[in-house]
Amino acid sequence: MSWGLRNRLSRIIKPETKRTVMLAVDHGYFLGPIRGLENPRRTITPLLPYADAIMLTRGVLRTSVDPTVDVAVVLRVSGGNTIAGPALGNEDIVTSVRDAIRLNAAALAFSIYVGTPYEHQTLKALAKLVDLGEDYGIPVLAVTAVGRELEKRETKYIALACRVAAELGAHFIKTYYTPEFEKVVDAAPVPLVIAGGPKMESEMDALKLAYEAVSAGAAGVDFGRNVFQSSNPVGMIRALRRIVHEGWTPKEAAQELGQVVGGPAAT
Ligand code: R5P
Repeated sequence: MSWGLRNRLSRIIKPETKRTVMLAVDHGYFLGPIRGLENPRRTITPLLPYADAIMLTRGVLRTSVDPTVDVAVVLRVSGGNTIAGPALGNEDIVTSVRDAIRLNAAALAFSIYVGTPYEHQTLKALAKLVDLGEDYGIPVLAVTAVGRELEKRETKYIALACRVAAELGAHFIKTYYTPEFEKVVDAAPVPLVIAGGPKMESEMDALKLAYEAVSAGAAGVDFGRNVFQSSNPVGMIRALRRIVHEGWTPKEAAQELGQVVGGPAAT
């Protein structure tokens, strides 16, 4: 791994804890203006002080994030599909590495659709992106997408998708938590960060998911809807930091949900 690549990765996965709290706000690239992200700037701004990294597209980055902000940018560079179209997995690289460098991206994110008609296309594009990332010293985050088929979130499938992504050279992987997550960690010898998925019934459910994932070996979380669709988004991301970076239990971390927004700075 080159110096630049390691340096960029360490802006995302903090060397002190070897963990990360990423904020995912890239949903609009195929879902449009979902609840909580109707106005990206309004959602993102209060959460930025608590995120190690923010995952988003170049369009939202340019229009809705202050360029003076101190946060690592994980730039989604795949797209070309929508929830309204015929095939959710029909993604390709839609942003050049040149533009990613111009935007000072700390990493490039790309979705792979293992087990779909778009498996070959997305795996080849991931491999191409890894080559470009190696050329320019930018790490690549492979996102193991399941599209509409949420039932695919079982250990065997997730382990397969993560292993394939690691074999193709992804530097870190975003995936779903499964009950036997240690098997996924064993299968993929690169850091794994966990997606939150659709908003859960309670904040405590999402905090438990984060706690179980890091306890099983995940390098952190990349939550979106379970943060910005919460009735207390700032409290949620602060609570996630407590769990991920400080080892607090979900019950301890839930204290953050009761705190006044704009209280003490994140640790
Ligand atoms: C979906 O493809 C996007 O990449 C999201 O970033 C991802 O699903 C994580 O967000 P959430 O926690 O809302 O699932």
